[in-house]
Amino acid sequence: MRMFDLIQKKKRGIALEASEIQFLFSGLLSGEIPDYQVSAFLMAVYFRGMEPQEQTQFTLAMADSGDQLDLSHLPGITVDKHSTGGVGDKTTLVVAPLAAACGLTVAKMSGKGLGHTGGTIDKLESIPGFRTDLSKEEFFSAVQSIGLAVAGQSGNLVPADKLLYALRDVTATVDSLPLIASSIMSKKIAAGADAILLDVKTGSGAFMKTKEEAAALAKEMITIGKNAGRKTAALITNMDVPLGNAIGNALEVEEAVEILRGEGCPDLQEVCTVLASNMLMLCNGWDEETARAQVKEAIASGRAFEQMKRWVAAQGGDPAVLDDTSKLPQAAIQHEILAPCGGYLAHMDAQKIGEASALLGAGRQTKEDVIDFAAGVVLKKKTGERVEAGEVLAVLHANRAESVPAAEAAFLGALQWSDTAPEKQPLILGIVR
Ligand code: URA
Repeated sequence: MRMFDLIQKKKRGIALEASEIQFLFSGLLSGEIPDYQVSAFLMAVYFRGMEPQEQTQFTLAMADSGDQLDLSHLPGITVDKHSTGGVGDKTTLVVAPLAAACGLTVAKMSGKGLGHTGGTIDKLESIPGFRTDLSKEEFFSAVQSIGLAVAGQSGNLVPADKLLYALRDVTATVDSLPLIASSIMSKKIAAGADAILLDVKTGSGAFMKTKEEAAALAKEMITIGKNAGRKTAALITNMDVPLGNAIGNALEVEEAVEILRGEGCPDLQEVCTVLASNMLMLCNGWDEETARAQVKEAIASGRAFEQMKRWVAAQGGDPAVLDDTSKLPQAAIQHEILAPCGGYLAHMDAQKIGEASALLGAGRQTKEDVIDFAAGVVLKKKTGERVEAGEVLAVLHANRAESVPAAEAAFLGALQWSDTAPEKQPLILGIVR
């Protein structure tokens, strides 16, 4: 078999056979197929796409390229949730304990943030003592004792994805739907859960800028998940505006705690409720009304908040900080941004606000950057609200004074003003089952 022929085939839009996909991945991992041929293949996929069966085989071969977790000995149906990434997305911090409090077994691997999007692992690590570098034994022991664990991705989870992603990054092929779908689903399949709920975000702060792109990605991922024998469903949710009011690691933990206590931003409450309900519907076959009622009860009774405390303790963190969130890392500087004019906030570019938060130290520009857990932005006004000149729009939390002017400029540059109220956007744009 020759890589040349595989590229030729894909260039002509012909689906690869399973044996050819195996050949491609073994050559990629051994280094026998040079980067320039893999790059040419990726570009051919970019223009020609993949057939559903071919894409499933491609994704399973990727998943098989490194460690795979076997969760079959864990009790009940194991469930994972994946967000395609956004700004202020702390839903895992709420939904994981919420789903566990409703009886699901949540065994999840999460990633670190890069660029304008935050990562669940960084948020969790802002809780003093919380460890995400769990050994397999520690991970299983937490899931067995409290029904919930979230760990960082092991270094050898889907090494083929790391190699392909590095080539996609420099060959303008990152934004290929089949390649994104295989990249995400290979990691979810390797992480072993029986059921996968996907949260595909769309809007200015998301990877997928339009609802149509998000729906197409959701469908491709669901096809792969089902062909791989996993129960899979997807929500398409709004990421045109940051989710909730807090952006930044410890700030988002504090906001997650508010939601688990039945308080906080109603939009965030609703998205978390819909996500947790859909996990219950997917795993238990419940109808929406039953699932929502369970979720609401788990919050109202305090069970979900207690579950979060057990989770934090099980992973080495100090659960007392959840009762008193002033014990979370706090920034030395809290700088108010005042409205330069009056009017309606017509649009907030979520990506630019994420970038402002990263400038303060809450995110990374490169993988090596060290995060400032206390840094970030707390929004006081959001899209659609009427604002008077001089009112507080947001508070920047920082430890480095020199980062504040650039972050303030980036924040103000993210806003668009209008004399009339903009149309309210839905939070949940679709559900694909
Ligand atoms: N997230 C991933 O894990 N992979 C992609 O290709 C894009 C987003």
